[in-house]
This record gives sequence, C-alpha cells and structure tokens, in this order.
Amino acid sequence: MPETMPATILITGATGYIGRRLSHRLLADTNHPIRILVRNRNKVQRILSEQVDIHEGDTFDREALSQALEGVDTAYYLIHSMGSTQDYQELDRRSAENFRDCCIASGVRRIIYLGGLGVKADASAHLLSRIETGEILSNRPREIQTIWLRAGVIIGSGSASFEIIRNLTQKLPLMITPSWVRTKTQPIGIDDVLAYLEGSLELGYEDNLVVDIGAEQLSFQEMMAQAAEVMGLKRLLIPVPLLSPRLSSYWLILFTPIPLGLAAALVEGLKSETILQNQAAAHYFPGIRTSSFRESVARALRELEQHQVLSRWCDSSGLQACDIKDFDDPSGAILRDSRTVVYTEQQEQEAVFQSACAIGGPNGWFRYNLLWQLRGLIDKIFGGYGLNRGRRLHRQLRLGDALDFWKVVDLKENKRLLLYAQMKLPGQAWLEFDVQPRQLVQTAHFIPRGLWGRLYWYAVYPFHFFVFTNLARTIVRAARTETKKPPSP
Ligand SMILES: NC(=O)c1ccc[n+]([C@@H]2O[C@H](COP(=O)([O-])OP(=O)(O)OC[C@H]3O[C@@H](n4cnc5c(N)ncnc54)[C@H](OP(=O)(O)O)[C@@H]3O)[C@@H](O)[C@H]2O)c1
Repeated sequence: MPETMPATILITGATGYIGRRLSHRLLADTNHPIRILVRNRNKVQRILSEQVDIHEGDTFDREALSQALEGVDTAYYLIHSMGSTQDYQELDRRSAENFRDCCIASGVRRIIYLGGLGVKADASAHLLSRIETGEILSNRPREIQTIWLRAGVIIGSGSASFEIIRNLTQKLPLMITPSWVRTKTQPIGIDDVLAYLEGSLELGYEDNLVVDIGAEQLSFQEMMAQAAEVMGLKRLLIPVPLLSPRLSSYWLILFTPIPLGLAAALVEGLKSETILQNQAAAHYFPGIRTSSFRESVARALRELEQHQVLSRWCDSSGLQACDIKDFDDPSGAILRDSRTVVYTEQQEQEAVFQSACAIGGPNGWFRYNLLWQLRGLIDKIFGGYGLNRGRRLHRQLRLGDALDFWKVVDLKENKRLLLYAQMKLPGQAWLEFDVQPRQLVQTAHFIPRGLWGRLYWYAVYPFHFFVFTNLARTIVRAARTETKKPPSP
C-alpha cells in the first residue's frame, strides 16, 4: 500500500514568542512539512529558513493568506495585534475573520489557536479581544474545526511574565505588594504550552474544542515567593491595600524590562481570577503532565544561564516598529552624527563587526554607561522600554532582536548593523555601524518631529559628542583586544 504523505502544517506568528518555539519543536518532533507565514522573511533564523517553506504576508492580505494556505491541513493561529498603534481590537477582529474565511476557502481541516485564560464577565480589554478572536475563529463549526487552547501566565525564558517575576525578585529584597498580587491564576510552563499545541495536531476529535491549560493555582505573590526560593534568595513581601493598578504599572516599568502599555495590560489582567474553566486538558491530553511552577522557573533560569533563549516577549516587532521592514532605511534622516575610526590592516573586519554586535545589555555602553542609564530611566518615565530590556544572547544578535531600547532592523554579516530607536523620542532615530575593510563608520541618524525634535537633537548634541565618540572607539579597541587573544586550543 502506498504510504500517505504527512499533511502540511501552517504556523502563523512564527517570528513571535510562541510561534518561533513551536516551529522548532514541530520540525524536531514530527515529519510534517512546515510552512510559516511571516511579515518579514529576514526575521526567520537561517537554521529555520533552511527547513521550512516561508510565505511572506499578513492576515490583512487575503491573497497572500490564500497562497500560504494552499494544500494546508492544519493551521496554527498565533497572532495578536496588541503592539499596533491603531485600534487593536478591531485589527484582531478583522485578522481572525480573514484567517477563518481563507482557511475555509482553502479546505483547511483544523485551526489551532492559543488565546488567553479567563472569563468574559471580568476580562481586561486585551483578554476580551483574545476571547473574541477565539469566537470568530470557531463560529463556523460545520465548515472548519477549531481547537482553542487558553493559557494564562506563561513561564519560560524570555516570556514577559517570567521576566517580571525574575526582575522583581532579583532586584527587590523587600516589596510592598498591592492587592492584585493575591489574585489566583494558573501559570503554565512554555514547554507544556508547546506540548498542548503539538498534541492538538494529531488529536482524534472532530468537533470544536476549548481547552484550558495550566498547572497549579497560584497568586502572583506566591509565584514571586516560589521563584525567590528557586533562585536561593530571601524576599520579604509586605501587603498594602493602597497601591492602585496605575501605580503598580509604574512600579513594574521601573524594575522590569516591560514598557508601560504592556505593564498596564498585565496588571489589568491580574485583577481578576484566571483559572481553568474546564477539564478538557486532562480528558483529551492524558499523556501531558504539566511541570510545577518551580520546575518551569528552574528551566527558564537554566536556559538564560546557558544562553539558549530561543524567543523573547519583545521578538514581535511590536509597539513603535510594527514591521521592521519599513524601518531599515535611514536615508530620509535630515540630522546625522557620524564618527569614523580607522583600524589597522591586521585587524579583521569580522572582529570589529562582532564587537559592534556585543554592545548593550549586560555588556553595557562603555565609559558613559551612566549617561545611557540616565537616558534609559528618562525613557522608562515616559513609558518606553528603557535600558533593562537587555539582549537575548550575550554576544549574538539576530534581525528583530531587542537590544535595550533599540531594535535590530538590519544585520549584514561582517558589514552592517542597524539599530532602530524604540525609545520615546520627538522623532525617529537609528544607530548604524557600517563596518568597512579598514574603518568603522558609526552614524546616528535622526528625523526630528517639528521644532521639539530639532530642539531635542541640539540639546543632546554635547552628550552625543562624548558618548558616540567613545562608543565607536571602544568597539574598535575591543575588537583589537579580541584579535590579539591566542586562539582557543
Ligand atoms: N506569550 C504569552 O505569555 C501568552 C500567554 C497566553 C496566551 N498567549 C497567546 O499566544 C498567541 C501568540 O502570542 P505571542 O506571545 O507569541 O505573541 P508575539 O510574541 O507578540 O508574536 C506575535 C506574532 O504575530 C505576528 N503578527 C502580528 N500581527 C500579524 C498579522 N496581521 N499577520 C501576520 N503576522 C502577524 C508577529 O509578527 P512580527 O514579528 O512581524 O511582528 C509575531 O510573529 C497569542 O494569541 C496570545 O494571546 C501568549
């Protein structure tokens, strides 16, 4: 008998936190041909791009969607529009409708969607939109089946919730805690989320299904106490009744990498209980044993220590830069600050490029680190990312990576690194490292917004003089030191 070909799977959101990890997992665990729909193919890691069929487009482009869905059996919907500056609820609605309709027209058998945990009655605006997305995807049950997984707090290296818990726990020996930290929720480890997403692929069930997933019930306070234990830290949490959600959000942005909008959405979400509303996970996926919160924290910490963070909460272009494609050309800038540092023949271009790629995060910004920290603090106060978003890996960068308050928008091996500023600014800014055979040309590009933009540029110009001169020189100096090191045995 001829063997049947494994069915083609489409993963959307494959450059996001969940989608990236799922793509790697399905490639490793299954023999299904994998297709991914991404808004910018350059954001896909090379190792992945060699093994998957990449389609470029977004869910607002029905033609691109139809092409990506041709011959697909099961399609993962791992998309949300929360980062958009437009009305994200409306975008989420249109995106889900388009996706559902195109899936039906292309004969897709099953949609697998990951949404948020919680009930409509006291859902935050963000959760409501996730619920509405699930309802739209699953409201044509005769034409297409939808498996709708619902997860609350996800714990994994690089996830927003884990980063909040880790940063607060590590930075604050004593914490005054508002009432929302005692609301019950059911966190789940990222590996378990992926196990359910993968398990949904082969599930022998024909009707629509809503599956709530989570491990043990815990409050945020209990999560912080347990995380401290896993990290071997002693922490004191003092409850206060007065800390409003708004004040809590400001508190979060000062001590964690997340910006104000996301902090407010998370706090809003944690005001009401998010616990499992059904037992479908145990019934339909009896083979999956969820890890405890402690186990998930330990695994996430291990991945951080071993520099194995596959994706982060800020991977999706998000907020100011929704698609990095439109941000990779600073030629329209009208104000520039350029520094050129010449280096010797012996010095390799590659070493200078690597050195440029190692800036920021725990590696710092060299001599004027304090000025950078101050700029980061100002950014935080104005609701931006600040500096403590750090970097995914210690030395390597990939396109789309967040790097403190920058986003990597162009990366040409040993030639060019272009960073787009996601800090709060009266204009648009880039920092470019053009690594030429004998010199590094480092340029800050700026498109000012009106008079304020220009005033800002000239006000910070004296600081730029010191900071940027030092930055370019130190990058070249560090490369020189690196080149002189004896090769490792
Ligand atoms: N992460 C969590 O903690 C968590 C918890 C519970 C539930 N969930 C659910 O899991 C799903 C995935 O979340 P996530 O955290 O992975 O999100 P994410 O990291 O923000 O990634 C979103 C992905 O969607 C893509 N995207 C956005 N709009 C698109 C469009 N119109 N067309 C095509 N692609 C589009 C983004 O592409 P670009 O890279 O081009 O921006 C990115 O790849 C969501 O439904 C979310 O509600 C997540």
